[in-house]
Amino acid sequence: MGKVLVINGPNLNLLGKREIGIYGTLTLDEINKMVSDEAERLGLQIEFFQSNHEGEIIERVHSAVGELDCLIINPGAYTHYSIAIRDAVAAVKIPTIEVHLSNIHSREEFRHRSVIAPVCVGQIAGFGPTSYVLAVRAAGEIIKSKVQE
Ligand code: DQA
Repeated sequence: MGKVLVINGPNLNLLGKREIGIYGTLTLDEINKMVSDEAERLGLQIEFFQSNHEGEIIERVHSAVGELDCLIINPGAYTHYSIAIRDAVAAVKIPTIEVHLSNIHSREEFRHRSVIAPVCVGQIAGFGPTSYVLAVRAAGEIIKSKVQE
C-alpha cells in the first residue's frame, strides 16, 4: 500500500473563513475528509500536515524520506518565493505534486510563478478542493508505475 502525505502551507488552516470568493467555503478538515475518502477508495494510506512556518514544512519534507512514497503540497504563498522549500523537495527525491485551490496563473502577476513546480512531477491548480482529489489520483498512478518498474 502506497503512503501519501498532503502538506498545506501558511493560511490554509483558515480555509472556510478566508477569502471565500477565491478559496470557497470548505474548511481544511472538510477538504482532508474528501481526500481521505478518495485515498481509501484507491487503497492508499494518507497523512496530513499543515504549518504556517517555512522551517516546519522543510523538516516535514525531510522526515518523509523512507516513510512516504509521494508528497502532495500546497505551499500557499511560499509557492512564489521559497527556494528553501524547493530545495527540500529536490533533496528528498520523493515524487511531489504541487496543488492550488485557485488558478494561480489567472490571478495577480506575482502568483504566476511557482519556484516549487520545476522540482515537482506536475502542478494541479484551479479546481478548488477537487485539485487535491485529482492530486491523490495522480499520486496513485505514480506509485503504481513505480511498483511496475
Ligand atoms: C494558493 C495560492 C497562493 O497564491 C496563495 O498564497 C495561497 C493559496 C491556492 O491554493 O490557491 O495561500 O496556494
